[in-house]
Amino acid sequence: MADTDKIVIAHRGASGYLPEHTLAGYAMAYALGADYIEPDLVSTRDGELICCHDIHLDRTTDVAMRYPGRARGDGRWYAADFTLAEVKTLQARERVDEHGARVFPGRFDANAHGFTVPAFTELLDLIAALNRQSGRRVGVYPETKSPEFHGAEGLALEPTLFAVLAEYGYTGPDARVFLQSFSPTNLRLMRQEMSSELPMIQLIGDTALEADWITPAGLDAIATYANGIGPDKSLIVAGNGALVHNAHERGLLVHPYTFRADQLGEGYPDLAAELAAYYFDYGVDGVFTDFCDIAVQLLNPSPEPDMLSAARAS
Ligand code: G3P
Ligand code: CA
Repeated sequence: MADTDKIVIAHRGASGYLPEHTLAGYAMAYALGADYIEPDLVSTRDGELICCHDIHLDRTTDVAMRYPGRARGDGRWYAADFTLAEVKTLQARERVDEHGARVFPGRFDANAHGFTVPAFTELLDLIAALNRQSGRRVGVYPETKSPEFHGAEGLALEPTLFAVLAEYGYTGPDARVFLQSFSPTNLRLMRQEMSSELPMIQLIGDTALEADWITPAGLDAIATYANGIGPDKSLIVAGNGALVHNAHERGLLVHPYTFRADQLGEGYPDLAAELAAYYFDYGVDGVFTDFCDIAVQLLNPSPEPDMLSAARAS
């Protein structure tokens, strides 16, 4: 784990190395020293939270082959139409685009078997067990995906999310958790109507609508319900770091996304150089990265202690 206040968020697990949102990828991210592991959350038809970036299952699993008659009229397979038991029959795999082409061609074997879609509770069990063995305090950084869609489907994410987090001891403002959403409505619901004290991060994309959110007035508004912002990293570059300064002035953390060795920001020779610019020149507090080992090494260049030594010594 990095020896600094700055944090490393394992984006979709160790997704640069193993298929996104798999227990293997989460375990690898843990072993590589991430401070927080990021699941994106969607709901199954029976109201269980699963770790999946999309409300659809077809870009990251073999659902189309296993359940050929279960697509909706738009030709997509929705997690909300499958029970958890059905989801658990699927093979998770490297992401493909709408044409079936791999999004990151250099990553893990696209035809590999043995990966499944985790229930959120499986990730929490994994973190709890590894934290117990190692003495580390790795946290979880869940994103509520498409909350308006889930509400319309009668599958609201938030009550289940809070119930599960409480069951695993994630309560109060000091819990090792950040809740993140692109939806201000969703964050306001969780903070103000559901009275959650858990740390929350307002994600901000690079759309015209979201441009208002990074103005001084927009940041003032965010500071009324969130603990920080998670901006597209391009928004920091565009203002030459002003967004970081302005957010910090309002007490907001800044955790930009997404840093990838195989999709570098313009002008950087490698991921370490790009991360160094954001951590140390722009002064961000954490990053979402598919390659958490590179960020961990940058923040803590000394050799990582054996993560299980504490368990063996006891
Ligand atoms: O949640 C931060 C970052 O993950 C947002 O992008 O699309 O990967 O969920 P996405
Ligand atoms: Ca995410």
